[in-house]
Amino acid sequence: MVSETLTITDNRTGATYEIPIEGGAIRATALKQIRTSQDDPGLACYDPAFVNTAPCRSQITYIDGERGVLLYRGYPIEQLAERSSFLEVAYLILKGELPTSDRLQAFAHNITMHTMIHENIKKFIDGFHYDAHPMGILVSTVGALSTFYPDAKRIFDPELRKVQTHRLLAKMGTLAAFAYRHSIGMRYAYPDNDLSYTGNFLNMLFKKTELRYTPDPVLVRALEVLFILHADHGQNCSTTAMRCVGSAHADPFTAVAAATAALYGPLHGGANEAVVHMLTEIGSVSNIPAYIKRVKAGEMRLMGFGHRVYKSYDPRAKIIKQITGEVLDVTGRTPLLDIAVELERIALDDEYFVSHRLYPNVDFYSGIIYQAMGFPLDMFPVLFAIPRTAGWLAQWQEGLEDPEQRISRPRGIYEGPALRDYVPLEQRSATIPD
Ligand code: ACO
Repeated sequence: MVSETLTITDNRTGATYEIPIEGGAIRATALKQIRTSQDDPGLACYDPAFVNTAPCRSQITYIDGERGVLLYRGYPIEQLAERSSFLEVAYLILKGELPTSDRLQAFAHNITMHTMIHENIKKFIDGFHYDAHPMGILVSTVGALSTFYPDAKRIFDPELRKVQTHRLLAKMGTLAAFAYRHSIGMRYAYPDNDLSYTGNFLNMLFKKTELRYTPDPVLVRALEVLFILHADHGQNCSTTAMRCVGSAHADPFTAVAAATAALYGPLHGGANEAVVHMLTEIGSVSNIPAYIKRVKAGEMRLMGFGHRVYKSYDPRAKIIKQITGEVLDVTGRTPLLDIAVELERIALDDEYFVSHRLYPNVDFYSGIIYQAMGFPLDMFPVLFAIPRTAGWLAQWQEGLEDPEQRISRPRGIYEGPALRDYVPLEQRSATIPD
């Protein structure tokens, strides 16, 4: 076996260190043997925003940002989006393999059987202000679910973990739909267990006076694809929150509440809403060149363009662009799509965007589809949270089963005052900040 090492020479002492390279990484703790002073606990890596830090090894999602590749458990996202269903992909992400027909049926049955929520949760939702953001309601109610399922605390019992996984996958959609109905002042629509996962979600959102809601198959399929594309994406901000809270052995409902809270941030789950605002502000195809000029002058960013990881076309954006036309054939065209297509054409041909390697990301077209399907803008991050729950739970479980994981506790580099004595109140200066 070829053993690769990194040799570090400490110029101060002349000492050399051989640091093993495993799987394209060195262990940060290997640097601790290098001391910068006598009372130093060892050399640390300073990495704000964890830009070059791998806190775990994972077998779930592979991303090659240079070549625009995204694989779940080895399967290309394009094949899954074309041929699979969301529940099948959730099974794959959670368990590592595509299910047999029997296993898929049992999995779908288990999730369907858990779509109802306790009536008391409805009372919580009733207590929210009429214009409460559905993401705020989702964060609170999914966290509250932990009090209804005290067995969720037994996180090292694999059977119970499975039950909580079914409950969470099932109930996130119900909570999200109820939050939406509350925001528009409509009676809650209960789950219809004869419908598919996404069909039932549309039923809980959009059912009106009809006895039975029949979802449009094109919209059901589009939502399946969007859910597949959002099911996992490696160690992003919300997944890191999930793993971090999970590392303290919190129950999965509490950890999913934390992950949902991270996703609520506009830098993470809110970019597709920003795209719709931007396209609306541009207003017409003829205004695009002037808008691009302002972006290039640094006045604002082109929303839905660029990605920390993808330096080529985001593979998810390609798939969403393809299904946008199919959805708009059902829902009716929107002028926003014409603006988006032309904006993309101009940007991809422009030296600034080419040299900065800025391509459309997953959010560029998804907002247009969601809006065309009748979702209000503040539901967009909720539509992200529901499928991402599969990824969060898979990553949480992987963390719990990884013998190398312990409670997350990064180091900080202290730059505050050195040791000093307490100053009595009457001796403190008036220059103390307010
Ligand atoms: N429009 C114009 N210029 C851009 C854009 C953009 N959308 N994105 C990056 N740039 C430029 C920056 O101005 C910078 O230029 P400079 O080097 O000349 O100063 C350069 O490209 C690198 O930008 P960074 O901010 O360092 O890139 P980073 O990888 O940190 O940011 C991000 C990635 C946040 C996604 C960024 O591209 C962006 O703000 N995009 C718009 C918002 C968006 O679409 N977010 C959704 C991301 S997908 C998701 O989270 C699900």
